[in-house]
Amino acid sequence: MKVLANDGISQSGIDALEKDGFEVITTTVAQEQLINYINENQIDVLLVRSATTVRKDLIDACPSLKVIGRGGVGMDNIDVAYAREKGLKVINTPAASSHSVAELVFGHLYGLSRFLHNSNREMPLEGDKNFKGLKKAYAKGTELKGKTLGVLGFGRIGQATAKVALGAGMKVVAFDPFLEKADLELEFFDGQKVSFEIKTISKEDVLKQADFLTLHVPAQDGYVIGEAELNSMKDGAILVNAARGGVVDEIALVKAIESGKISRAALDVYEKEPQPEMGLLMNPALSLTPHTGAATNEAQDRIGTELAQQIASILL
Ligand SMILES: NC(=O)c1ccc[n+]([C@@H]2O[C@H](COP(=O)([O-])OP(=O)(O)OC[C@H]3O[C@@H](n4cnc5c(N)ncnc54)[C@H](O)[C@@H]3O)[C@@H](O)[C@H]2O)c1
Repeated sequence: MKVLANDGISQSGIDALEKDGFEVITTTVAQEQLINYINENQIDVLLVRSATTVRKDLIDACPSLKVIGRGGVGMDNIDVAYAREKGLKVINTPAASSHSVAELVFGHLYGLSRFLHNSNREMPLEGDKNFKGLKKAYAKGTELKGKTLGVLGFGRIGQATAKVALGAGMKVVAFDPFLEKADLELEFFDGQKVSFEIKTISKEDVLKQADFLTLHVPAQDGYVIGEAELNSMKDGAILVNAARGGVVDEIALVKAIESGKISRAALDVYEKEPQPEMGLLMNPALSLTPHTGAATNEAQDRIGTELAQQIASILL
């Protein structure tokens, strides 16, 4: 059986599929040639990430297809309901990158709490002439240990982030309207395990208690964090948005930073992608990444092997 991984797949995924006897094709076929290619080569499984779209016309025109797989989470590029109606299996790997996003959040948190986002910008410019000045400017760092991390959205990534926080010695408070509690198991290198039960509390209480706030909610109508929410937070709190552009009101965030209500923040996602507002890009209180939360080799490996496992269990 033939698998076309049109937006690429990790070597671990290719190895797992080939071990099960699948032929894996990693050619990137242009969108307009995809229907022809699938039919000419009698492709059984089409794997995509976010670049290739799988719409009704393709589903109708390609009777050899049995499985459509999305490496990653969002399936906006696939007509999922229609494909399932037509008897195709549609799979994705929603958990594969949770820990990668959690670690990026902590990269930002550790960086912000010690002003790494600023000193990395300024050391190349004035580290030789103004070493002492910069040393003084960044002398008032804080530790994460002992502080409270507020988590809005306690699903896969929220819980993965909470586990990293617990490992770092932080207190975790969480809000999720659809979840009363979560059992988190921290696993250590030597096989020891520690279990935590985190009961969710109200959004108001999370905002009031958090020294650091991180969002892990899905895209939704309206902001989850706007002016009112920012005003109800602790003075000088730090915020991270690695969820989706549009869940934090960027204008309100910049205003809250200017007033000192929020001291610093990190953004991995933006209301305008791929051209975020210049006022964000130039803001010295922001630690910024270009939507790289899930972008690790380990996540890609897990995506590949998880897809391979699911394909094998459907088709073999
Ligand atoms: N930065 C990145 O590269 C990256 C990578 C992967 C996923 N994401 C994003 O991270 C977010 C979370 O992903 P996930 O896999 O943890 O999803 P998930 O579905 O496992 O968890 C989301 C949780 O948010 C809760 N929720 C919904 N609305 C809420 C609200 N208004 N307030 C509080 N909680 C709310 C849901 O009940 C759910 O438990 C998504 O927006 C996803 O798109 C970002």
